[in-house]
Amino acid sequence: MRFRAALRAALAAACGLALAAPVAAQTIKIGSVLTLSGPNATLGENMDKAIKLYMKTHELLPPGVKIDLITRDDGGPNPDKAKQLVQELIVRDKIQFLTGLTWTPNAMSTAALCTEAKVPMFIMNAGTSVITTMSPYIARFSFTLWQSTYPLGEWAGKKYKTAYIAVSDFGPGHDSEAAFEKGFTDGGGTIVGKVRIPLANPDFVPFMQRAKDAKPDVVFAFVPAGKQATAIMKAYGDLGMDKAGIKFIGPGDLVTDEELPNMGDVPLGVLTVHHYSAAATRAANKAFISAWKKEYGPNSTPSFMSVGAWDAMDAIYYVIREQNGKIDPDKTMALLRNYKNPNSPRGPISIDPETRDIVQDEYLREVRKVNGQLANVEIETIATAVKDPWKEFNQKK
Ligand code: PHB
Repeated sequence: MRFRAALRAALAAACGLALAAPVAAQTIKIGSVLTLSGPNATLGENMDKAIKLYMKTHELLPPGVKIDLITRDDGGPNPDKAKQLVQELIVRDKIQFLTGLTWTPNAMSTAALCTEAKVPMFIMNAGTSVITTMSPYIARFSFTLWQSTYPLGEWAGKKYKTAYIAVSDFGPGHDSEAAFEKGFTDGGGTIVGKVRIPLANPDFVPFMQRAKDAKPDVVFAFVPAGKQATAIMKAYGDLGMDKAGIKFIGPGDLVTDEELPNMGDVPLGVLTVHHYSAAATRAANKAFISAWKKEYGPNSTPSFMSVGAWDAMDAIYYVIREQNGKIDPDKTMALLRNYKNPNSPRGPISIDPETRDIVQDEYLREVRKVNGQLANVEIETIATAVKDPWKEFNQKK
Protein backbone atom coordinates (compact mmCIF):
# COMPACT_ATOMS: atom_id res chain seq x y z
CA MET A 1 0.00 0.00 0.00
CA ARG A 2 2.74 2.26 0.95
CA PHE A 3 4.42 1.57 -2.31
CA ARG A 4 1.22 2.31 -4.17
CA ALA A 5 0.74 5.56 -2.32
CA ALA A 6 4.31 6.47 -3.07
CA LEU A 7 3.80 5.58 -6.72
CA ARG A 8 0.63 7.63 -6.81
CA ALA A 9 2.47 10.55 -5.25
CA ALA A 10 5.32 10.18 -7.72
CA LEU A 11 2.88 10.04 -10.64
CA ALA A 12 1.03 13.04 -9.37
CA ALA A 13 4.29 14.92 -9.03
CA ALA A 14 5.30 13.94 -12.59
CA CYS A 15 1.90 15.04 -13.89
CA GLY A 16 2.26 18.21 -11.96
CA LEU A 17 5.60 18.81 -13.59
CA ALA A 18 4.20 18.02 -16.99
CA LEU A 19 1.39 20.47 -16.33
CA ALA A 20 3.72 23.04 -14.88
CA ALA A 21 5.91 23.19 -17.97
CA PRO A 22 3.35 24.80 -20.30
CA VAL A 23 2.23 27.17 -17.54
CA ALA A 24 5.80 28.40 -17.18
CA ALA A 25 6.04 28.97 -20.94
CA GLN A 26 4.92 32.36 -22.17
CA THR A 27 3.23 32.91 -25.50
CA ILE A 28 3.25 36.51 -26.64
CA LYS A 29 0.42 37.31 -29.02
CA ILE A 30 1.20 39.80 -31.74
CA GLY A 31 -1.45 41.07 -34.16
CA SER A 32 -0.14 42.14 -37.56
CA VAL A 33 -2.47 44.15 -39.81
CA LEU A 34 -1.14 44.42 -43.35
CA THR A 35 -2.34 44.93 -46.90
CA LEU A 36 -2.10 41.47 -48.46
CA SER A 37 -4.75 41.64 -51.18
CA GLY A 38 -5.99 44.07 -53.82
CA PRO A 39 -3.92 46.45 -55.96
CA ASN A 40 -1.53 47.28 -53.10
CA ALA A 41 -0.91 43.69 -51.97
CA THR A 42 2.83 43.76 -52.68
CA LEU A 43 3.26 46.41 -49.97
CA GLY A 44 2.06 44.12 -47.20
CA GLU A 45 3.70 41.06 -48.70
CA ASN A 46 7.10 42.73 -48.49
CA MET A 47 6.44 43.60 -44.85
CA ASP A 48 5.18 40.11 -44.01
CA LYS A 49 8.25 38.53 -45.62
CA ALA A 50 10.49 40.70 -43.44
CA ILE A 51 8.56 39.75 -40.28
CA LYS A 52 8.88 36.05 -41.06
CA LEU A 53 12.55 36.34 -42.00
CA TYR A 54 13.33 38.22 -38.81
CA MET A 55 11.60 35.56 -36.72
CA LYS A 56 13.37 32.77 -38.55
CA THR A 57 16.83 34.30 -38.19
CA HIS A 58 16.54 35.60 -34.61
CA GLU A 59 16.04 33.00 -31.95
CA LEU A 60 16.82 35.46 -29.20
CA LEU A 61 13.81 35.11 -26.92
CA PRO A 62 14.06 34.18 -23.23
CA PRO A 63 13.73 30.41 -22.57
CA GLY A 64 10.12 29.24 -22.82
CA VAL A 65 8.92 32.42 -24.54
CA LYS A 66 7.15 31.95 -27.86
CA ILE A 67 5.51 34.32 -30.28
CA ASP A 68 2.08 33.72 -31.73
CA LEU A 69 1.86 35.95 -34.80
CA ILE A 70 -1.72 36.58 -35.91
CA THR A 71 -1.77 38.20 -39.37
CA ARG A 72 -4.82 39.97 -40.81
CA ASP A 73 -5.39 41.51 -44.25
CA ASP A 74 -6.92 45.00 -44.33
CA GLY A 75 -7.12 45.00 -48.16
CA GLY A 76 -5.69 48.52 -48.50
CA PRO A 77 -6.25 52.01 -47.12
CA ASN A 78 -9.48 51.07 -45.41
CA PRO A 79 -9.91 52.59 -41.92
CA ASP A 80 -13.22 50.89 -41.06
CA LYS A 81 -11.97 47.44 -41.97
CA ALA A 82 -8.74 48.02 -40.04
CA LYS A 83 -10.69 49.13 -37.00
CA GLN A 84 -12.86 46.04 -37.09
CA LEU A 85 -9.81 43.77 -37.44
CA VAL A 86 -7.97 45.43 -34.57
CA GLN A 87 -11.04 45.27 -32.36
CA GLU A 88 -11.25 41.52 -32.97
CA LEU A 89 -7.54 41.07 -32.40
CA ILE A 90 -7.77 42.87 -29.07
CA VAL A 91 -11.04 41.45 -27.76
CA ARG A 92 -11.04 37.92 -29.15
CA ASP A 93 -7.39 37.09 -29.72
CA LYS A 94 -6.13 39.12 -26.76
CA ILE A 95 -3.05 40.41 -28.54
CA GLN A 96 -0.39 42.11 -26.43
CA PHE A 97 1.19 44.02 -29.32
CA LEU A 98 -0.23 45.43 -32.53
CA THR A 99 1.99 45.87 -35.57
CA GLY A 100 1.92 46.18 -39.38
CA LEU A 101 -0.10 49.27 -40.28
CA THR A 102 0.81 49.85 -43.89
CA TRP A 103 -1.50 52.87 -44.24
CA THR A 104 -2.02 56.15 -42.40
CA PRO A 105 -5.85 56.02 -42.38
CA ASN A 106 -5.69 52.53 -40.84
CA ALA A 107 -3.23 53.55 -38.13
CA MET A 108 -5.39 56.57 -37.33
CA SER A 109 -8.64 54.63 -37.04
CA THR A 110 -7.07 52.14 -34.63
CA ALA A 111 -5.02 54.49 -32.40
CA ALA A 112 -7.84 55.02 -29.87
CA LEU A 113 -8.37 51.26 -29.53
CA CYS A 114 -4.72 50.85 -28.56
CA THR A 115 -5.06 53.57 -25.93
CA GLU A 116 -8.22 52.05 -24.47
CA ALA A 117 -6.85 48.52 -24.32
CA LYS A 118 -3.25 49.55 -23.53
CA VAL A 119 -1.93 47.61 -26.51
CA PRO A 120 1.32 49.10 -27.84
CA MET A 121 1.27 49.77 -31.58
CA PHE A 122 4.59 49.25 -33.42
CA ILE A 123 4.10 51.09 -36.73
CA MET A 124 5.92 49.40 -39.59
CA ASN A 125 4.97 51.88 -42.31
CA ALA A 126 2.24 54.56 -41.95
CA GLY A 127 4.14 57.85 -42.30
CA THR A 128 1.89 60.83 -41.59
CA SER A 129 3.49 62.90 -38.84
CA VAL A 130 0.46 63.40 -36.60
CA ILE A 131 -0.18 59.66 -36.02
CA THR A 132 2.19 59.29 -33.06
CA THR A 133 0.38 62.10 -31.22
CA MET A 134 -2.88 60.13 -31.36
CA SER A 135 -1.97 57.63 -28.63
CA PRO A 136 0.75 57.31 -25.99
CA TYR A 137 0.88 53.60 -26.94
CA ILE A 138 2.29 54.23 -30.44
CA ALA A 139 5.93 54.03 -31.49
CA ARG A 140 6.97 54.35 -35.13
CA PHE A 141 9.72 52.34 -36.85
CA SER A 142 9.22 53.55 -40.41
CA PHE A 143 9.60 57.23 -41.31
CA THR A 144 7.61 60.41 -41.66
CA LEU A 145 7.13 62.06 -45.04
CA TRP A 146 8.46 65.26 -43.48
CA GLN A 147 11.73 63.46 -42.68
CA SER A 148 12.60 62.78 -46.31
CA THR A 149 10.73 65.54 -48.05
CA TYR A 150 11.75 68.61 -46.07
CA PRO A 151 15.52 68.02 -46.62
CA LEU A 152 14.79 67.16 -50.27
CA GLY A 153 12.91 70.45 -50.64
CA GLU A 154 15.73 72.48 -49.09
CA TRP A 155 18.31 70.80 -51.32
CA ALA A 156 16.16 71.23 -54.45
CA GLY A 157 15.32 74.87 -53.63
CA LYS A 158 19.03 75.70 -53.92
CA LYS A 159 19.49 73.76 -57.15
CA TYR A 160 16.32 74.53 -59.13
CA LYS A 161 14.27 77.70 -59.55
CA THR A 162 10.75 76.35 -60.01
CA ALA A 163 8.83 73.27 -58.93
CA TYR A 164 5.39 71.73 -59.43
CA ILE A 165 3.95 69.52 -56.68
CA ALA A 166 1.78 66.44 -57.37
CA VAL A 167 0.68 64.28 -54.43
CA SER A 168 -1.87 61.60 -53.55
CA ASP A 169 -4.84 63.13 -51.80
CA PHE A 170 -4.47 61.65 -48.29
CA GLY A 171 -2.39 62.12 -45.12
CA PRO A 172 1.12 61.34 -46.34
CA GLY A 173 0.47 63.22 -49.59
CA HIS A 174 -0.65 66.31 -47.69
CA ASP A 175 2.40 66.06 -45.41
CA SER A 176 4.82 65.69 -48.29
CA GLU A 177 3.21 68.62 -50.13
CA ALA A 178 3.58 70.90 -47.08
CA ALA A 179 7.10 69.68 -46.28
CA PHE A 180 8.37 70.04 -49.84
CA GLU A 181 6.81 73.46 -50.25
CA LYS A 182 8.40 74.71 -47.03
CA GLY A 183 11.79 73.17 -47.81
CA PHE A 184 11.83 74.37 -51.44
CA THR A 185 10.84 77.93 -50.61
CA ASP A 186 13.18 78.01 -47.57
CA GLY A 187 15.91 76.91 -50.00
CA GLY A 188 15.10 79.83 -52.35
CA GLY A 189 12.84 78.22 -55.00
CA THR A 190 9.32 79.06 -56.20
CA ILE A 191 6.34 76.69 -56.43
CA VAL A 192 4.56 77.25 -59.75
CA GLY A 193 1.60 74.92 -59.19
CA LYS A 194 0.25 71.94 -57.30
CA VAL A 195 -2.28 69.20 -57.70
CA ARG A 196 -3.75 66.44 -55.53
CA ILE A 197 -4.43 63.08 -57.14
CA PRO A 198 -7.19 60.69 -55.95
CA LEU A 199 -5.84 57.77 -53.94
CA ALA A 200 -8.06 55.09 -55.49
CA ASN A 201 -7.42 53.90 -59.07
CA PRO A 202 -5.77 57.05 -60.33
CA ASP A 203 -5.02 57.79 -63.99
CA PHE A 204 -1.86 59.83 -63.65
CA VAL A 205 -1.68 61.16 -67.21
CA PRO A 206 -4.01 64.19 -66.86
CA PHE A 207 -2.27 65.26 -63.63
CA MET A 208 1.20 64.90 -65.08
CA GLN A 209 0.04 66.76 -68.22
CA ARG A 210 -0.89 69.71 -66.00
CA ALA A 211 2.51 69.52 -64.37
CA LYS A 212 4.19 69.49 -67.80
CA ASP A 213 2.14 72.46 -69.00
CA ALA A 214 3.36 74.52 -66.02
CA LYS A 215 6.93 74.11 -67.44
CA PRO A 216 8.71 73.80 -64.07
CA ASP A 217 12.36 72.86 -63.64
CA VAL A 218 11.26 69.93 -61.48
CA VAL A 219 8.13 67.97 -60.66
CA PHE A 220 7.98 66.76 -57.09
CA ALA A 221 5.64 63.79 -56.55
CA PHE A 222 4.51 61.55 -53.74
CA VAL A 223 2.31 58.54 -54.46
CA PRO A 224 2.15 55.32 -52.45
CA ALA A 225 5.05 52.99 -53.22
CA GLY A 226 4.33 49.85 -55.21
CA LYS A 227 2.25 49.78 -58.39
CA GLN A 228 1.21 53.45 -58.16
CA ALA A 229 4.86 54.51 -58.27
CA THR A 230 5.36 52.47 -61.43
CA ALA A 231 2.22 53.99 -62.97
CA ILE A 232 3.22 57.63 -62.33
CA MET A 233 6.71 56.91 -63.65
CA LYS A 234 5.12 55.54 -66.81
CA ALA A 235 3.03 58.73 -67.21
CA TYR A 236 6.20 60.84 -66.80
CA GLY A 237 7.91 58.80 -69.52
CA ASP A 238 4.90 58.59 -71.87
CA LEU A 239 4.41 62.37 -71.78
CA GLY A 240 8.07 62.89 -72.71
CA MET A 241 8.68 65.01 -69.63
CA ASP A 242 12.26 63.79 -69.29
CA LYS A 243 12.92 64.80 -72.91
CA ALA A 244 11.29 68.18 -72.21
CA GLY A 245 14.00 68.70 -69.56
CA ILE A 246 11.71 68.44 -66.53
CA LYS A 247 13.41 66.61 -63.66
CA PHE A 248 11.39 64.20 -61.51
CA ILE A 249 12.07 64.15 -57.76
CA GLY A 250 10.37 62.88 -54.62
CA PRO A 251 10.74 60.75 -51.51
CA GLY A 252 11.94 57.17 -52.05
CA ASP A 253 8.37 55.94 -52.45
CA LEU A 254 8.56 57.15 -56.06
CA VAL A 255 11.31 54.69 -57.02
CA THR A 256 10.66 51.96 -54.47
CA ASP A 257 13.37 49.32 -54.86
CA GLU A 258 11.15 46.32 -55.51
CA GLU A 259 9.39 48.08 -58.41
CA LEU A 260 12.50 49.35 -60.23
CA PRO A 261 12.67 46.25 -62.45
CA ASN A 262 9.11 47.05 -63.66
CA MET A 263 9.83 50.67 -64.61
CA GLY A 264 11.99 50.27 -67.75
CA ASP A 265 14.71 52.90 -68.11
CA VAL A 266 12.44 55.91 -67.42
CA PRO A 267 13.63 56.46 -63.81
CA LEU A 268 17.33 56.73 -64.76
CA GLY A 269 18.55 59.98 -63.21
CA VAL A 270 15.55 60.41 -60.88
CA LEU A 271 16.72 61.97 -57.61
CA THR A 272 15.09 61.13 -54.31
CA VAL A 273 15.74 61.49 -50.61
CA HIS A 274 14.98 58.52 -48.37
CA HIS A 275 16.15 56.56 -45.36
CA TYR A 276 16.64 53.24 -47.13
CA SER A 277 17.98 51.89 -50.39
CA ALA A 278 18.35 48.19 -51.13
CA ALA A 279 21.54 49.15 -53.01
CA ALA A 280 23.18 50.65 -49.90
CA THR A 281 26.63 49.20 -49.34
CA ARG A 282 26.84 49.36 -45.52
CA ALA A 283 27.62 46.00 -43.93
CA ALA A 284 24.29 45.63 -42.10
CA ASN A 285 22.43 46.11 -45.37
CA LYS A 286 24.59 43.68 -47.28
CA ALA A 287 23.87 41.04 -44.62
CA PHE A 288 20.15 41.84 -44.76
CA ILE A 289 20.02 41.64 -48.57
CA SER A 290 21.92 38.38 -48.61
CA ALA A 291 19.60 36.81 -45.98
CA TRP A 292 16.61 38.06 -47.98
CA LYS A 293 17.82 36.64 -51.31
CA LYS A 294 18.72 33.35 -49.69
CA GLU A 295 15.18 33.05 -48.36
CA TYR A 296 13.15 34.55 -51.21
CA GLY A 297 15.33 34.07 -54.29
CA PRO A 298 17.88 36.15 -56.19
CA ASN A 299 15.23 38.20 -58.01
CA SER A 300 13.39 39.28 -54.87
CA THR A 301 14.34 42.68 -53.41
CA PRO A 302 13.18 44.06 -50.07
CA SER A 303 11.53 47.46 -49.97
CA PHE A 304 11.81 50.27 -47.43
CA MET A 305 8.60 48.82 -45.99
CA SER A 306 10.42 45.52 -45.43
CA VAL A 307 13.05 47.38 -43.44
CA GLY A 308 10.37 49.17 -41.41
CA ALA A 309 8.96 45.74 -40.56
CA TRP A 310 12.41 44.29 -39.82
CA ASP A 311 13.28 47.08 -37.40
CA ALA A 312 9.90 46.97 -35.66
CA MET A 313 10.42 43.24 -35.09
CA ASP A 314 13.82 43.98 -33.61
CA ALA A 315 12.16 46.40 -31.17
CA ILE A 316 9.46 43.84 -30.33
CA TYR A 317 12.10 41.23 -29.56
CA TYR A 318 14.00 43.78 -27.49
CA VAL A 319 11.03 44.63 -25.25
CA ILE A 320 10.17 40.95 -24.83
CA ARG A 321 13.76 40.14 -23.81
CA GLU A 322 14.00 43.09 -21.45
CA GLN A 323 10.79 42.03 -19.69
CA ASN A 324 11.73 38.37 -19.70
CA GLY A 325 8.51 37.53 -21.50
CA LYS A 326 6.16 39.09 -18.92
CA ILE A 327 4.75 42.01 -20.81
CA ASP A 328 3.51 45.20 -19.24
CA PRO A 329 2.31 47.84 -21.72
CA ASP A 330 3.64 50.82 -19.80
CA LYS A 331 7.02 49.15 -19.29
CA THR A 332 7.04 48.36 -23.01
CA MET A 333 6.53 52.02 -23.90
CA ALA A 334 9.19 53.11 -21.42
CA LEU A 335 11.65 50.66 -23.01
CA LEU A 336 10.76 51.81 -26.53
CA ARG A 337 11.53 55.40 -25.63
CA ASN A 338 15.16 54.35 -25.25
CA TYR A 339 15.32 51.92 -28.16
CA LYS A 340 18.40 52.29 -30.38
CA ASN A 341 19.93 50.22 -33.15
CA PRO A 342 23.24 51.42 -34.60
CA ASN A 343 23.11 48.59 -37.14
CA SER A 344 19.78 48.69 -38.93
CA PRO A 345 20.08 47.91 -42.66
CA ARG A 346 19.22 51.62 -43.16
CA GLY A 347 21.98 52.86 -40.81
CA PRO A 348 21.71 54.04 -37.20
CA ILE A 349 18.19 54.46 -35.82
CA SER A 350 16.65 55.36 -32.48
CA ILE A 351 13.29 56.29 -31.03
CA ASP A 352 12.88 59.90 -29.92
CA PRO A 353 11.92 59.58 -26.23
CA GLU A 354 9.75 62.69 -26.42
CA THR A 355 7.66 61.80 -29.47
CA ARG A 356 8.09 58.01 -29.84
CA ASP A 357 8.94 58.66 -33.48
CA ILE A 358 11.92 57.28 -35.37
CA VAL A 359 15.18 59.22 -35.66
CA GLN A 360 17.31 58.32 -38.67
CA ASP A 361 19.65 59.50 -41.43
CA GLU A 362 18.37 60.62 -44.83
CA TYR A 363 20.24 59.93 -48.04
CA LEU A 364 20.21 61.68 -51.40
CA ARG A 365 19.97 58.97 -54.04
CA GLU A 366 20.01 58.76 -57.82
CA VAL A 367 18.61 55.97 -59.97
CA ARG A 368 21.56 54.52 -61.87
CA LYS A 369 22.41 51.22 -63.51
CA VAL A 370 24.46 48.91 -61.32
CA ASN A 371 25.45 45.59 -62.90
CA GLY A 372 22.88 46.19 -65.63
CA GLN A 373 19.99 46.80 -63.22
CA LEU A 374 18.39 49.98 -61.92
CA ALA A 375 19.36 50.85 -58.36
CA ASN A 376 18.88 53.74 -55.93
CA VAL A 377 22.53 54.66 -55.44
CA GLU A 378 23.15 56.63 -52.26
CA ILE A 379 25.15 59.71 -53.26
CA GLU A 380 25.40 61.47 -49.91
CA THR A 381 23.95 61.51 -46.42
CA ILE A 382 21.94 64.70 -46.69
CA ALA A 383 20.92 64.89 -43.02
CA THR A 384 21.87 62.83 -39.97
CA ALA A 385 19.80 61.78 -36.93
CA VAL A 386 16.72 63.51 -38.35
CA LYS A 387 13.80 63.89 -35.96
CA ASP A 388 10.37 64.38 -37.49
CA PRO A 389 10.62 68.01 -38.74
CA TRP A 390 6.85 68.54 -38.48
CA LYS A 391 7.02 67.96 -34.73
CA GLU A 392 10.11 70.13 -34.47
CA PHE A 393 8.37 73.00 -36.31
CA ASN A 394 5.09 72.58 -34.46
CA GLN A 395 6.57 71.76 -31.06
CA LYS A 396 4.03 68.93 -30.76
CA LYS A 397 4.89 66.07 -28.46
C1 PHB B 1 0.89 55.90 -45.56
O1 PHB B 1 -0.31 55.58 -45.66
O2 PHB B 1 1.30 56.55 -44.57
C2 PHB B 1 1.84 55.56 -46.66
C3 PHB B 1 1.46 54.67 -47.67
C4 PHB B 1 2.35 54.38 -48.70
C5 PHB B 1 3.59 54.98 -48.72
C6 PHB B 1 3.98 55.85 -47.71
C7 PHB B 1 3.10 56.15 -46.69
O3 PHB B 1 4.46 54.73 -49.73
